Amino acid sequence: MNSVIFVCLGNICRSPLAEGVAKKIVENRDLHVRVSSAGTGSWHVGETPCANSVKVAQKNGINISSFTASQITKKELEEFEYVIALDQSNYNDLKRLGANNLHKLGSFGYNGEDVPDPYFFDGFEGFDRVYEMIESCVTTMFEELA
Ligand code: 4NP
Repeated sequence: MNSVIFVCLGNICRSPLAEGVAKKIVENRDLHVRVSSAGTGSWHVGETPCANSVKVAQKNGINISSFTASQITKKELEEFEYVIALDQSNYNDLKRLGANNLHKLGSFGYNGEDVPDPYFFDGFEGFDRVYEMIESCVTTMFEELA
């Protein structure tokens, strides 16, 4: 794998976590893989990740506080080798935009499940569950796509 971009809806909760986990793996293993993330929507462009995502990442030794949200571009869909959607709705949107080599993150060890959107959850607990799923899937993805 040369490059991978993770895509959710807002690029402030889920895909920045996947980017952070992947960048940590790349750093730890001294790999040469370009890693990024984006959202299908434009509402949060320029914002840093949501407070609970920053917090759960920090808890797990990953600093995502300086990431800034962007909206996926056609150029990125051409440039990145793999495009990884966080849920089915992201997948469908990306398919419509012409993404190739498109996968759902949950297909790496979670039976194709959606990574649920924690943005509308009440508490912090949802973020722990979402983090756990993202970390497991991203780790498996690196094994399967090598
Ligand atoms: P994300 O979560 O897709 O995991 O970044 C969302 C954050 C904000 C909104 C949607 C999803 N929103 O519509 O504001």
